Amino acid sequence: MKGKTILIGVTVLVVGLLAAACSQQAAPTLAPATEAPVEPPKVEVSGSVTDGGKLYDKWWKVVDVDEPAVDHPLWATQDSNTRSGDDTWRCKECHGWDYFGADGAYGSGSHFTGFPGVFDASGMSDGELLGWLDGSTTADHDFSAMGEEALGSMVTFLQDGLVDLHEFIDYETKAPLEADADHGQELYGNTCTVCHGVDGRSINFGDDDDPEYVGTIALGNPWEFTHKVRAGQPGSAMPASLRHNDWSMQDVMDVLAFAQSLPIEAPGTISVSRGGRLYDKWWKEAGLDEPAEDIALWARQNTNTRSGDDTWRCKECHGWDYMGALGPYGSGSHFTGFPGVFFAQDKSLEDIVAQISGNVDPDHNFSAMGEAAMTDLATFIKEGQIDMRDVVDYGSSTPVGGDGVSGEALFASTCVACHGDDGTMINFGSDDDPEYIGTIAIDNPWEFVHKVRAGQPGSGMPSAIDMGWDLQYVIDVLTFAQTLPVDAP
Ligand code: HEC
Ligand code: HEC
Ligand code: HEC
Ligand code: HEC
Repeated sequence: MKGKTILIGVTVLVVGLLAAACSQQAAPTLAPATEAPVEPPKVEVSGSVTDGGKLYDKWWKVVDVDEPAVDHPLWATQDSNTRSGDDTWRCKECHGWDYFGADGAYGSGSHFTGFPGVFDASGMSDGELLGWLDGSTTADHDFSAMGEEALGSMVTFLQDGLVDLHEFIDYETKAPLEADADHGQELYGNTCTVCHGVDGRSINFGDDDDPEYVGTIALGNPWEFTHKVRAGQPGSAMPASLRHNDWSMQDVMDVLAFAQSLPIEAPGTISVSRGGRLYDKWWKEAGLDEPAEDIALWARQNTNTRSGDDTWRCKECHGWDYMGALGPYGSGSHFTGFPGVFFAQDKSLEDIVAQISGNVDPDHNFSAMGEAAMTDLATFIKEGQIDMRDVVDYGSSTPVGGDGVSGEALFASTCVACHGDDGTMINFGSDDDPEYIGTIAIDNPWEFVHKVRAGQPGSGMPSAIDMGWDLQYVIDVLTFAQTLPVDAP
């Protein structure tokens, strides 16, 4: 029995030597591990495919060992890839995210090493693969520092976890060959949003100057994206689709297609909806004291008899429909004769900020709200205004083309929690003169539309703009809200 084992050991060694001698094509020549006969490797291993996938990515993050400090010994046999240190110990750095090494996506570019892939190794036995990983096949290819259990998972991944990504990804365009991005969005929403955010920018893998988001990886390196979605991210709680979701490769491609549509630029700090709330009552939104005196401009009119902070609200002079004296504020107690801001959307952002900050007219100075707020406000003027004539019939004050049934459902899911079933839970007026959702909807549909889109300054009320609502939803809610009670319950 003992003799037979040794015999096999010697045979393996001889075959190994022959193989090493014969495989001298493009790949570097590797020295055999040892001259003396060795105990043949254990021939059966067990392990986890997903752990193996994470080990393939960065094994020292998965098993608790220090990252390698010096270059991998094989690194010196190439000089095209100039990385150094721990990077040179990652399986993926030499064998590629697509497992095809120099025959795949790492066949050119800064990651090129000329080293082969591991895809064909998936047919090897446990013993053969272990031999490659623990240095007994080639002394310089020794990853036994990750420990026996991890080696078992590594072997399992190589045997059961590899996929030929040529069958799924177009290597030229980097797009999935076939995918349903809508389905991908659904899967992304259920699985990824919680950590990466709806637009994939909650976690920045890069730095401030050179941000990397889900969208960046999906577009730039679909092979890495696929590997990470299947195996998870080493040392993080990110789920592995192989283990947690049982996703098919098609599911992963669907998510990839959706992720390729996500933004790759750093998110701006500009908020259109905040601009809308500032337009309503800027000191509430900006957390400032309310102005005590009338604004200087107020003296240029004498029809509107309000005073104090009211005279500082953009909407008081320019209207809820942004049309000033051309709109509903063309008559009644709010009439000032002042113009609208609707057409200012054609001006540049700088010109609008200049107007708001008093650089154009010193009496029209709102710089107390600060630079950032003025930029948000100007952005609202430029990008956030809608033409109210498209949504409200000015003659009857009723919505144009609203669907009350859809509106009722939207109201139930979004407004009832704060405003109550019939909109009377919050009274915006006084006990004697109550104002409810129904009151605003009927008396001032323009105000209603503005507030539902932008939210209520200084309150937790959600904004339809931020929720990504179609304008039609706002009109539907308005249609339903006009049926709500206006009298105290
Ligand atoms: C520094 C580069 C480098 C790193 C890092 C590296 N390898 Fe290798 N690997 C090689 C080279 C070079 C070969 C030998 C190719 C040859 O001579 O046939 C090889 C061969 C292999 C083979 C045998 C392939 C075959 O078809 O014969 C397997 C399996 C393998 N590596 C797996 C891994 C795994 C798993 C990791 C990570 C734990 C890893 N390698 C990390 C460079 C690397
Ligand atoms: C439980 C939280 C969590 C979930 C859920 C999650 N991730 Fe991650 N993801 C992370 C963390 C943490 C990182 C590592 C960030 C780092 O290294 O800076 C990461 C990294 C990534 C990376 C690689 C970034 C890189 O280059 O290193 C990609 C791509 C990615 N996630 C995509 C997804 C996708 C797609 C989903 C849904 C299928 C998802 N993630 C689900 C937490 C999560
Ligand atoms: C007291 C009335 C009043 C208030 C309050 C007011 N404006 Fe004006 N606004 C005017 C008048 C009057 C003009 C016409 C130009 C001028 O005389 O400055 C004007 C002009 C503008 C213009 C240029 C319009 C165009 O078509 O070129 C913009 C933009 C503007 N206002 C934005 C705002 C914003 C934003 C706010 C809120 C921070 C605001 N205004 C508050 C009275 C007011
Ligand atoms: C998180 C709670 C919350 C939700 C959800 C909410 N609101 Fe409000 N809403 C408020 C608060 C608080 C106010 C301000 C009350 C005040 O100023 O007295 C308000 C004010 C309003 C006003 C303006 C009242 C005025 O004249 O100042 C309208 C109109 C309105 N909400 C409609 C809606 C609609 C429609 C929805 C659903 C799309 C909704 N709200 C969802 C909390 C909420």
